Amino acid sequence: MYTSNRRCDRPGRLRAVTQGKCALFLVAAVFAAGGAALPPETKTEFGPVGAVSELDVDDGDDRSSGFSVDVPGIVADATISIGGDDYPNPLRLQSGNAVDGPDSWENLRRPELLADFREHVYGQSLPLPTEQTFDVSTTEIGDVVRKTVTIGVTGPEGSGSFDMTLFVPTGESTPRGTFLMIDHRGSVGDDPGQSSGYAPVSTITDAGYAFAVIDANDLAPDDSGSYRDGVINLFHPSGQDLPDDAGRAISAWAWGASRAMDYLETDPDIDPAKVGVIGHSRSGKASLWAGAQDTRFAAVITNNSGSTGAKLARRGDGGVGAETVARINSAFPHWFPQTYREYNDNESALPVDQHELMALVAPRRLVVGSATDDSNADPQGEFLAYVGAARAYELYGLGDTGLGSNDWRPETDRGHRGPAMSYHLRSGGHGLSGADWDIYLDGDLFSRGAGRAGL
Ligand code: GCU
Repeated sequence: MYTSNRRCDRPGRLRAVTQGKCALFLVAAVFAAGGAALPPETKTEFGPVGAVSELDVDDGDDRSSGFSVDVPGIVADATISIGGDDYPNPLRLQSGNAVDGPDSWENLRRPELLADFREHVYGQSLPLPTEQTFDVSTTEIGDVVRKTVTIGVTGPEGSGSFDMTLFVPTGESTPRGTFLMIDHRGSVGDDPGQSSGYAPVSTITDAGYAFAVIDANDLAPDDSGSYRDGVINLFHPSGQDLPDDAGRAISAWAWGASRAMDYLETDPDIDPAKVGVIGHSRSGKASLWAGAQDTRFAAVITNNSGSTGAKLARRGDGGVGAETVARINSAFPHWFPQTYREYNDNESALPVDQHELMALVAPRRLVVGSATDDSNADPQGEFLAYVGAARAYELYGLGDTGLGSNDWRPETDRGHRGPAMSYHLRSGGHGLSGADWDIYLDGDLFSRGAGRAGL
């Protein structure tokens, strides 16, 4: 066993940092409207497939790309039918015209949807830190290298930090992929031998994957009185109310996943093109929002995320007593911005619904995990949102959901996997369990089209 501790204080842009286990970069103040939470010029290529997609990391509001695909005359319906009910059409531009392919999806519709989700649902994201540091402590334990990475971030109101623990199997030259977990339970320790159902670290590393975890509570305490005390108050004066549309805890957790990704991009032991962000329940809402915004995540896994996660908002309680917008805003007033409260008992007024959030992951790997008895999360509502998201994947020829039928309810306890979309419905109640991980680890989520049969 050995332990090393390194730090570097090297100014420059993130893309310039390629060596070593730690990095610092200064970013020109990026406090423009729209929440530029991501490095604006970073490009990423999805996996090994090659046929599809080089996407801008942040869509922002930049319409200056010169695309002129918004052809007058191709009018789209305002709604689509999902499970027999009407929902907003993800492929309809605000002009009323139709999205006709990947170019208009990526350059026109994605920015519109992101702006709507920021304004009405999750709040504006925090901007990029003006300064970011990575302090890395490395320990080799058996077949695993554990790195404790302290991620320092600075905003106009001060500096703070949060930790990421990263377990890298040494058996292969580069891990098959990396699961980055947003964890609100604080239950993941630093023992590489741990193997709970929730975080089966040794099972994951034995399968050849790296596993990284950040503690949501370090980013924004999960508490209505103190949620600003993590990273939010580094960017907002603590003595002032947050703007009505500022992101709250869920937004901060998603932002933290992107800052963790900033580090993973610099780690020579990690393939940055194969990082999946995963979260369960409230953290599953955050993982989906992180993956919708940050196209550096090659896979986006949302487990039992329910209301304001994978569940369609317009279904209300789904006939099963599921959590509605009004209930979530009342029980967890620190998760979402004030603007979201306008939709309490008024979901039909939302300009978006959650199938469009999932659609923002296209053409990257979307993974939705539900459970039969998780009625608070409305598993049928999660299923229907997944079905609706396929519209965006169809633009890439990747609309196969793996389901065979769009009718509820699908076969339980098996993965349904298309070339870029994955779904499963586990028997039992709310939770992230070994049975869920068995499906996430089966086949290869990071290689499009691989391992489809029987998954
Ligand atoms: C509550 C809440 C859900 C949330 C869940 C969890 O049940 O209503 O929205 O997903 O907690 O995070 O476990």
